[in-house]
This record gives sequence, structure tokens and C-alpha cells, in this order.
Amino acid sequence: MLIAPSLLSCDFSVFRDEIVRIDQGGADIMHLDVMDGHFVPNLTFGAPVIKKLRKATEKPFDVHLMISEPHRYINDFADAGADIISFHTESDSDIDETLKLIEARGVKPALAIKPGTSPHVILPYLDRLYMVLVMTVEPGFGGQSFMPDMMEKVTFLKEEIKKRGISTLIEVDGGIAKDTIATAAKAGVDICVAGTAVFGAPDAKEAITELRGLCE
Ligand code: DX5
Ligand code: ZN
Repeated sequence: MLIAPSLLSCDFSVFRDEIVRIDQGGADIMHLDVMDGHFVPNLTFGAPVIKKLRKATEKPFDVHLMISEPHRYINDFADAGADIISFHTESDSDIDETLKLIEARGVKPALAIKPGTSPHVILPYLDRLYMVLVMTVEPGFGGQSFMPDMMEKVTFLKEEIKKRGISTLIEVDGGIAKDTIATAAKAGVDICVAGTAVFGAPDAKEAITELRGLCE
């Protein structure tokens, strides 16, 4: 299991140091939540902030766009150094066009679905995706409860990936903690995002190691 700490729960007054801390703590991927106050009722940060943080680590930057018109900003996030860009199928942008913009920049494309969205919407694009992000809470805030029902989507997508002989990864995001991560692992999840469980712990390194250990 790859662990992707969500920086949404970090201390933003020392954003760079927090990235270094979880890098040293064994984080596999840096999960960066971009919110526009429109697609979700919360605001975070954008491409200029990510660009400044890019030099803090060599670990991949997984940029989760929770914004209404992702196609307008793909080039900005690619310029900022994103390695993976996920955007929501529920956003206003054309999915094919937005994927093309990401592909043209050599960034790994990912599609994200909210809890109410069927995984079937992903199927026409599955072969082109580096990753599918299955939300296990309503996007917008950290610290919410994991929705175990979402594991049905993971199983469904895993089957389809296997059938097609492709290597698309499945990431889950929301409510991942000591008591929920084994459920995700059992369903076949490849990457777990964890905000509160990492940054709310007294020692991030211990928390990451423990989460990973619970998947074995
Ligand atoms: C929620 C974000 C998540 C969030 C997860 O919209 O996409 O990445 O930070 O936080 P926890 O792990 O606390 O549920
Ligand atoms: Zn996220």
C-alpha cells in the first residue's frame, strides 16, 4: 500500500517543513488538495503555492483538483510540477478535453468520483488513466468518517482493470485511519490518502508506518 498524506491537515504556517517532515517520515506521495470555494464549500491553495513547494521533496506531487473548471488550470498545475493531476467527473469541464490537456503535458491523468457518482462514468476513460480516485467522504474537508460502501466501487473498478489487462491504480481519499485502512487494502486499493490520521498523530513517521503495517 502506498501512503499519500494529505497536506490539507498540515500546519500551513510551515507548509514546506511539513512536506519535509512527512517525506522523512516515509510518505510515498504528497497529496495536495486544491479547492475553489465553488465546486466544494472550502478554499485552499493553487498552482503558485504548489510551485514554491515543489523543491521541498522529490516525492511525487498528487494534485487533487476540487474545482469547477479544471481544464482552465491544467497548464498552471503542470508548470507548477504536478506529477499526477486528478479532476472530478462532476466538474463542468469536458472530460475528454481535460484528459487531453493533461496528457499533452506528460502529467499522469486521474479521474475522481464523489460518493454519489457511479464508477461506470469512468469506464470509457479507464485505459487512459494512471489512477482513479474514489472519494470515501464528500470532498471539501478533512476529518470526516470513512464510507465503507465505497469499497464496492473499488472492487468493480479492480475487476475491470484486471479484465482489460491494464495497470490503472486505485486511490481512496477520506477517513482513512487505523480502523479503516485494512478495509481499503482488502478491497484492492493501491494508494491511501490520509490527512488527520497522519497530521493529527503525535509522530507522523510512526503513523505512516503503522498505517502501512495494517495493510499486510
Ligand atoms: C477532502 C480531501 C482529503 C482530505 C482527507 O476533500 O480530498 O484529501 O484531506 O482528510 P482525512 O484523511 O482527514 O479524511
Ligand atoms: Zn484529496
